[in-house]
Amino acid sequence: VAGDEKELRAPICCILGHVDAGKTKLLDCIRGTNVQGREAGGITQQIGATYLPAENIRDRTSLKAETAIKVPGLLVIDTPGHESFSKMRSRGLSMCDIAVVVVDITKGLEKQTVESLHLLRCHNVSFIVALNKVDRLYGWKECTNAPIVEALKKQSDDVKSEYKWRLTKVVTEFKENGFNTAPYYENNKKKKVVNIVPTSAESGEGVPDLLLLLVRWLPDIITDKLAYDDTIECTVLEVNEHKDLGTTVDVVLINGVLRQGDQVIVCTKQGAYKHHKEVRAAQGVKIVARGLQYAMAGTSLIVVKPGDDLRQAEAAAMQE
Ligand code: GTP
Ligand code: NA
Ligand code: MG
Repeated sequence: VAGDEKELRAPICCILGHVDAGKTKLLDCIRGTNVQGREAGGITQQIGATYLPAENIRDRTSLKAETAIKVPGLLVIDTPGHESFSKMRSRGLSMCDIAVVVVDITKGLEKQTVESLHLLRCHNVSFIVALNKVDRLYGWKECTNAPIVEALKKQSDDVKSEYKWRLTKVVTEFKENGFNTAPYYENNKKKKVVNIVPTSAESGEGVPDLLLLLVRWLPDIITDKLAYDDTIECTVLEVNEHKDLGTTVDVVLINGVLRQGDQVIVCTKQGAYKHHKEVRAAQGVKIVARGLQYAMAGTSLIVVKPGDDLRQAEAAAMQE
C-alpha cells in the first residue's frame, strides 16, 4: 500500500569506467547538455554531481504518468576514467548507493574498468553495465532514443551478429573478473546476475532502458540504504574559485535536510544558481561562505543546528 511505504531519498549513482568509454557523453545525452564537448582534451578531470528529478527521467522513458517512481530523483556523479584520477573515483564511489559501469562495446573491459569492478566489490555496491557506443557497430541503423530491443530488431543480420559476438566477449570478460552478467532483457535473475544495457550516447538507443532500470528496479534492491534519515550526511566534492561568488564548495548532501539559516544555493538543470530555503538529500549543493578557501575535498561537512554545542561539533569535525 502506497501510504505505508517509507519515504525514500534520491539514490546517488556513480558513473565509472575506463577513459573515453563515454561516461560524460552518456550524461550529456540524458541531460541534453554538451559538457563533454567542452572538456580540455576530451578528458574529465573532476567529479561532478547532477540531479535528475524523477519527472525528467519519466519523460525519457516509456513510463506512463500514473506509474509511480519511488524515488524523488537521482543524483548522478560523473567520475574521470583517466588512470591518474583513481582518488576521485574512490571518493565518488564511497558516497554512492549504486553505480553504472560504462564499457565501450568496441573495446570490451579495459584497465580502469577492472579497477572499478574491484572497487565496487570492495564497497559491495550494486551496479549496471552500460555497454556503450552500439552505434559504432558497422552498419548500425540509427533509431534515436529508442528502447534497445526495438533498435536491435531494426538492424541487419550482419549488425546483429557483430552485436552478439561482442556482447558474448564482454560477458566472458566479466566472468573472468568474477561477475555473472547478462543483457537485462534476457536476465531473469536480476538480483544475482548483473544487468547489461546496450546504449549509444550519440543517438540515445538504450538510454530509456538504462533510466528505467535506475529508477524502477534498483531502488527495490537497495531500499534499506535509501531510507530517508534526518541525520545530515554531507561530503565536500570540490573547492572552487568562482568569479562572482569567491570561494565556494560543492558538496553532496547524502542524507538529511539543509535548511535556511544554513543558507544554500543549488545548481539547476540550466546551470544557473537558485537560492533555496531547504534542500533534501540526495542533492549536489554549492555553498558560498567566508573562510571556505581552507576547506578540504573529501572531508565531511558538519551542519550546526540551533541548540547544538558548537565546540563539540568542531571537535567532531577535527577528528577526521
Ligand atoms: P573520461 O571522463 O575522460 O574518462 O571519458 P568518458 O568516459 O567521459 O568519455 P567521453 O564522454 O569523454 O567520450 C569519449 C569520446 O567517445 C568522445 O569523443 C565522445 O563523443 C565519444 N562517444 C561517447 N559515447 C559515444 C557513443 O555512444 N557513440 C559514439 N559514436 N561515440 C561516443
Ligand atoms: Na573522455
Ligand atoms: Mg568524462
